[in-house]
Amino acid sequence: MRMVDLIAKKRDGKELTTEEINFIIDGYTKGDIPDYQVSALAMAIYFQDMNERERADLTMAMVHSGDTIDLSAIQGIKVDKHSTGGVGDTTTLVLAPLVAALDIPVAKMSGRGLGHTGGTIDKLEAIEGFHVEISKDEFVNLVNEHKIAVIGQTGNLTPADKKLYALRDVTATVNSITLIASSIMSKKIAAGSDAIVLDVKTGAGAFMKTAEDAKELAHAMVSIGNKVGRKTMAVISDMSQPLGSAIGNSLEVKEAIDTLRGHGPKDLEELCFALGRQMVYLAGKADSLEEAEEKLKEVIHNGKALEKFKEFIANQGGDSSVVDDPDKLPKAAYIIEVPAKEDGMVAEIVADEIGTAAMLLGAGRATKESEIDLAVGLMLNKKIGDKVKAGESLVTIHANRESVDDVIEKIYANIRIGSHAETPVLIHDIV
Ligand code: URA
Ligand code: CA
Repeated sequence: MRMVDLIAKKRDGKELTTEEINFIIDGYTKGDIPDYQVSALAMAIYFQDMNERERADLTMAMVHSGDTIDLSAIQGIKVDKHSTGGVGDTTTLVLAPLVAALDIPVAKMSGRGLGHTGGTIDKLEAIEGFHVEISKDEFVNLVNEHKIAVIGQTGNLTPADKKLYALRDVTATVNSITLIASSIMSKKIAAGSDAIVLDVKTGAGAFMKTAEDAKELAHAMVSIGNKVGRKTMAVISDMSQPLGSAIGNSLEVKEAIDTLRGHGPKDLEELCFALGRQMVYLAGKADSLEEAEEKLKEVIHNGKALEKFKEFIANQGGDSSVVDDPDKLPKAAYIIEVPAKEDGMVAEIVADEIGTAAMLLGAGRATKESEIDLAVGLMLNKKIGDKVKAGESLVTIHANRESVDDVIEKIYANIRIGSHAETPVLIHDIV
């Protein structure tokens, strides 16, 4: 087989066989096939696309390019949740204990990553003593016994995806549904769960700016998952404005605690139920999505979800008393209100720009080397559709520096007050 012939085949709109796709990914991972040939192929895929069979083959070839996690020592159906990324997305912190409280095993491998705030691990590290440096055996034992554990990323997962994603980034081929779907799904499948629930975000703060694109991506990922034997469902959710009120690490831990108590922001709660009921259903703990949602509500009302969060924190060395006393979480030195300049209705809160404002305070990493400040961030006191009077606080800034003029300027530039507002639909679709 010659790579040049395979590039030509895809360039001409023909279908690549399983063997051909394996040859490409294997050769690229080993370094036998150079970047320039894979660049040309990525561009051919961008224009000619792949069918569902090719997408599944590409995904599995990337899964097999490196280590895969074997969770077979954990009893029960393991369901993983993945978000395509947004601003102030606190769902994992809520869903992990919520679902585990229904005896569904949550074996979460999580990263730190770049973004407006830290990843799930950074957020959990806002809790004194909490750590994810546990052995594989301890991880398995914790999940079997307590149904929940989080471990830092281990092993060399999907090296082919790492190389290809970096190459796509500099060859204008990131924005292909086929390449995005196979990239995301390869990582989820390599991480070893039996079933996958996807939260595909759409809007200013999301990778997919329109609901149509997000739907297409969701369908592509669900098709790949189901084709390769992992039950997969998806929710398409709004990310035009940030999710919930908190954007920042310890602020989001507090928000998750409030939500587990049944007093969280409405949108965060609604999305957690939408994703959670799919997780419960796929785990075989309910016969319908409606029944699954009832069960989730029950463990919030009877306090089991909150108890599970405490148990989880204590198991991994953390101080679980923060759940009853969130004042123990890291606190910022300066609390600054940003008042509305006029009466009206909040018409727009541009998610990605507000996320960047939180990052300017130090809530997230701009580069892999950046230090993160767990205490800082933003609390949105108003969401789209809320009435506001001049002088009322729109946002509360939690900062560890005295002068935050740059942040205030960004907030004013990206929260628009008008005479009327259209509240965005939170759940666009279920796939
Ligand atoms: N996120 C990924 O992991 N891969 C892509 O290709 C795009 C977004
Ligand atoms: Ca939030």
